[in-house]
Amino acid sequence: MAERLRLGVNIDHVATVRNARGGTLPDPVRAAHLAVAAGADGITAHLREDRRHIRDADMERLAAELTRPLNFEMAATDEMIALAERLKPHAACLVPEKREERTTEGGLDVVGQKAELRPRIALLKAASCRVSLFIEPDEAPIAMAAELGAPVVELHTGTWCHAVADGLAAKAEAEFQRLARGAAFAAKLGIEVHAGHGLDYDTARKLAAVPAFVEFNIGHFLIGEAIFVGLEAAIGRIRQAMDEGRSGLPG
Ligand code: PXP
Repeated sequence: MAERLRLGVNIDHVATVRNARGGTLPDPVRAAHLAVAAGADGITAHLREDRRHIRDADMERLAAELTRPLNFEMAATDEMIALAERLKPHAACLVPEKREERTTEGGLDVVGQKAELRPRIALLKAASCRVSLFIEPDEAPIAMAAELGAPVVELHTGTWCHAVADGLAAKAEAEFQRLARGAAFAAKLGIEVHAGHGLDYDTARKLAAVPAFVEFNIGHFLIGEAIFVGLEAAIGRIRQAMDEGRSGLPG
């Protein structure tokens, strides 16, 4: 089995809670430091166009203060590219963004948007950002990610996680197989494979058994769990679930 999986902790929803009251607490950057202390291999934050959770000042502080890699999730807009060029995060993950959506729905349309994406990926690479494309686990977008020169893809796990949560066993199995096939295909093309969206203890454990995956990015579930068990314990438990899944231990 492949090496230990990396865990990226997404702290967006600490900012969601902060913004509900409009003040400064809880501080997402404090959560990021705590996550690093608890064993996160990196921190992910998504600066959305509407600034609904993470704000510019949060990104500035994360870029300046973090001792582990920062993964800057962003839409491929001129504004965000310019910010990444200035802040120089370790990684930039390009995601689709629609104002009206509640969260990132579906992967980036890399095939339809290849002409716009190609120069933007080049700009991010020139700024020394490791570029990742958040895409559906299908051959066409994965092959296009390779053609566009992206060193990393993050496969969208949302459809699978929803099917699991809704108890749709046949759909969940089909979606799991789609992710496993997609991950193997991307790895064969020499692309580093990440996964994210909707993962929890059980889904992270199961997906960790697919050897092509190198990194999981997990946010909403961990921040929700932190209300009950604390962030440190939630990160410890997901880390354990990922390690068990990777080493073939049953849950
Ligand atoms: N990866 C990407 C690219 C995402 O857009 C998100 C959601 O912001 C996540 C991972 C984390 O998803 P969740 O918050 O559901 O764990």
